[in-house]
Amino acid sequence: MSNPSPNTAETITADLPAGSAGEVLEQASSGASLQRTVARSAQIEQQIETDPGRFRVLTGDRPTGNLHLGHYFGTLANRVALQRRGVETLILIADYQVIADRDGVGRLRDRVYSLLADYLAIGLDPETTTIFTHSSIPELNQLMLPFLSLVTEAELRRNPTVKAESDDTGGRPMSGLLLTYPVHQAADILFCRANLVPVGKDQLPHVEQARVVARRFDERYGRADPAHPVFREPEALLSSAANLLGTDGTKMSKSKGNTIELGMDADATAAVLKKAVTDSERHITFDPQGRPEVSNLVLLAALSSGRDPEDVAAEIGDAGSGALKKVVTEAVNDHFAPIRARRIELSADPAYLQSVLRRGNERARDIAAITLDQVRVAMSMQY
Ligand code: TRP
Repeated sequence: MSNPSPNTAETITADLPAGSAGEVLEQASSGASLQRTVARSAQIEQQIETDPGRFRVLTGDRPTGNLHLGHYFGTLANRVALQRRGVETLILIADYQVIADRDGVGRLRDRVYSLLADYLAIGLDPETTTIFTHSSIPELNQLMLPFLSLVTEAELRRNPTVKAESDDTGGRPMSGLLLTYPVHQAADILFCRANLVPVGKDQLPHVEQARVVARRFDERYGRADPAHPVFREPEALLSSAANLLGTDGTKMSKSKGNTIELGMDADATAAVLKKAVTDSERHITFDPQGRPEVSNLVLLAALSSGRDPEDVAAEIGDAGSGALKKVVTEAVNDHFAPIRARRIELSADPAYLQSVLRRGNERARDIAAITLDQVRVAMSMQY
């Protein structure tokens, strides 16, 4: 061939200064870039108010453990709020992501159904919200192939979230799937042309990766009609929710035993909160910097009862940490009683859970099939 095809490996870097995409991913979750995302998220919140129809949301979770109150107040409650505001929402149970950093699937099936029961119990409505699993959508997974051709190995190695996750595995050699899962996650987002991805800060490099993939796919294959890109670039929606800590005042994490799970009953909740760490000062205040443990319990009580943390603290005043624990236990148990009751009902009805997942998977598959067809056309691979 005398005329080198434009679709050679060099195009990946040729249309961008060397290394720039890697840097963009590296910076996505820090500094000025993070500030921009925070400001943009506030703007998007207002646009949702006036025109919810312009957004399609995709987000998801790995089915690796039971959801806890950190998940609930951090992201889950916000999904229900988006649904209530009329934003079309797809929620992915990311079962293929589970095997990126561990051997075998463990109790995967139970965890998928438990996650689904959590979703439905908190108020996600399967009539309007599409809940689906990775492994059920072949057309989504097929997008991984062309998408992988759009990124370099060097970029993948620079993804800060992948690096951190690999470090967390304690010296386990990085699997090819762990290295490339951000590209798979790009397929999760792009297959349904979601334009809004509610995530935590740690996921920002992945949203940036999805934007890079969307742009490059279009640069290579979508030029026939620049007004109608094959993929639109998604944006992250950072939650403004306060960060809830564990009952010892450190990051909430199952492995530290400092979590309250959604599925716990009232007695188990009381037992965990009884052991919560406080401090020796009797007067209760809300001062997250100076008194992280006490303030975290005040915050949890406030979030659970829909009140202001300062008011909660002032009301307890000199009654001390015993009273604080009583207040927070009651607030949590009151708020979660109906959710927990519904969760028990749902768990007792596996046939219903299965029917919800089947319907969600069918809907997601219909969407994915249309997208894959358009990708085939763009790539001249329709036979
Ligand atoms: N990686 C996300 C997590 O660990 C889960 C996830 C998978 C996701 N695919 C996604 C989140 C797409 C947002 C969009 O929490």
